[in-house]
Amino acid sequence: MNQLLTVLSGILAALAISWAGLVYGPVSQLGSLKPETEVGEPYPVDRIGLAKQGADVYRANGCYYCHSQQVRQGPVSYELFVTATGTNDPAISKVFSTFKVNLDSENSAAIGQALFLASDDFTVWPDAKGKESAAAEKLRDGMKDSSKLKSIGLAGITDTNKLAKAMEFLKIPKQEKLENQIKGASVPIYDTAKQWGQIRPVMQELKRAGMTVKIIPTQQTAGDIPTFGMRQSVARDYLFDSPAMIGSRRVGPDLANIGVRRPDTAWHLTHLYKPKLEDAKSKMPRYSHLFETRKIVGAPASDALKKVEVANGYEIVPKPEALALVAYLQSLKQDKPLPESPIVNLPIHSKP
Ligand code: HEC
Repeated sequence: MNQLLTVLSGILAALAISWAGLVYGPVSQLGSLKPETEVGEPYPVDRIGLAKQGADVYRANGCYYCHSQQVRQGPVSYELFVTATGTNDPAISKVFSTFKVNLDSENSAAIGQALFLASDDFTVWPDAKGKESAAAEKLRDGMKDSSKLKSIGLAGITDTNKLAKAMEFLKIPKQEKLENQIKGASVPIYDTAKQWGQIRPVMQELKRAGMTVKIIPTQQTAGDIPTFGMRQSVARDYLFDSPAMIGSRRVGPDLANIGVRRPDTAWHLTHLYKPKLEDAKSKMPRYSHLFETRKIVGAPASDALKKVEVANGYEIVPKPEALALVAYLQSLKQDKPLPESPIVNLPIHSKP
């Protein structure tokens, strides 16, 4: 009986946890999303009329098999700095020796120096057993140029006593300004910005050892933005899409912003009828079933395809589905800034 209760409560817990993760979590994060109203007209708005019908044509024809509707931004890179070495010398030394191999040379030397100088027995620093060494001289030279503070190894020592000792050891003149400069300085761990996955374990270890660190996001790679969009797509962009046809493969270009990139109805119609007429190398299938060839009665229709050759007296005109599909494509615009996704100031490239 006891076991039965354990098993039952286990099952219940498993169900509760999955419900929390799969239902409650997403709903609480995304369920309350509303159109943005701060930026003038509300964004996004529900599609109406032709564009709404066009979404069904898009889905029925499986356009999402080859086209995504999601502009992705590239990853962000970070720089990691040690701002204070802390006082737990043994732990710090251990982290340092663990990561020493991973650290880039110049900065690892700086951190190493900072650590040795910050430790109580800094005089055991290999090069400087008691007497003034070439390395110490180099450090002192470095002090003359405040821009080199980061590489001289004193940066990050906030303990006043240790700093005073280190400065004395290096025969650096006692100067309040210099001291403050040293205290405020920070040592970069790497020479170049790194991705979060690389930064995180090092940062955690350094913190655990009592050091104070800061990270600064420095580079955000543009990802898809120069080619396909104006900013990255976020959940709110799909508020009225049911279902959202984000797609997972990109055999053809991303269409999240095609309405901005290609506003021309005639271009879309010709392209749908026979993609090769617009792009000779196109691998996109023809959607000529969305058009009909008919005898011209009176004047030719205004939306009859012009680039297509057809027997005299006939014309190729879009069926209502084709017009709806084009209206839908033209409605695909992620061109309003959102607080969670501002417009990125990069040129949009588009074929003419
Ligand atoms: C088998 C894959 C495939 C399918 C399915 C497909 N396309 Fe394409 N599509 C492409 C390729 C490849 C291109 C790029 C060459 C070109 O411009 O024709 C493209 C280009 C486009 C472009 C021009 C994009 C740009 O950035 O210039 C539009 C618009 C488009 N497709 C719409 C559609 C629509 C609407 C459907 C469904 C009716 C669809 N596609 C179905 C492969 C596909």
